[in-house]
Amino acid sequence: MLNLKIIIASTRPGRKGPAIASWFYDIAAQYPDFSTEVLDLATINLPFFDEPHHPMLQKYEHQHTKDWSASINSADAIVIVTSEYNYSFPASLKNALDFLYKEWNYKPVGFVSYGGVSGGTRAMQMLKQVVTAQKMMPVPEAVPIPFFMKFMDEPGKFNGDAALEKSANDMLKELHKWAVALKTMRVPA
Ligand SMILES: Cc1cc2nc3c(=O)[nH]c(=O)nc-3n(C[C@H](O)[C@H](O)[C@H](O)COP(=O)(O)O)c2cc1C
Repeated sequence: MLNLKIIIASTRPGRKGPAIASWFYDIAAQYPDFSTEVLDLATINLPFFDEPHHPMLQKYEHQHTKDWSASINSADAIVIVTSEYNYSFPASLKNALDFLYKEWNYKPVGFVSYGGVSGGTRAMQMLKQVVTAQKMMPVPEAVPIPFFMKFMDEPGKFNGDAALEKSANDMLKELHKWAVALKTMRVPA
């Protein structure tokens, strides 16, 4: 069994990230080889990066960092559900990524991005630069969602269409392949 962690990047009140993550979770939960969990950065509520040592050293002083470290350490694959803010990804996500280093290493990452005409792809492309510095493998298959509001209903549920479901499944299958392969590259922490 491989652990898949779905990270919700946006944290603002009224955000749409959780609705999109919930839609993606329902698809991912159908994969018996993945044990899937949602990590909501709003709930995790990390402060601005406040560790005195480089994360590479894993000399964490704060309990919030130790908890975040344990959570990501147990992941075999990551999916980031990200909005696009000013053509990039939210600062809350960069902060959460910067807190750790080794915990991200040699893990595949897939992206569910959403926005207007761009479908969040500008945010996703910028994010790829960051995650490769942390030795993650961004899978090319992705789930960009242009004009995502057209898939939202009145109570705020996100209802992806068949094309979006296909891209989600294509990405999950690739993530699984990479997760199996990359696990062999990781030494136990
Ligand atoms: C600060 C800010 C910047 C934004 N910049 C973009 C952008 O560059 N591209 C885009 O497609 N949408 C942009 N939007 C609109 C977002 O796509 C939309 O508000 C979306 O709901 C944000 O995700 P969230 O609800 O999970 O926070 C921006 C929204 C905010 C609040």
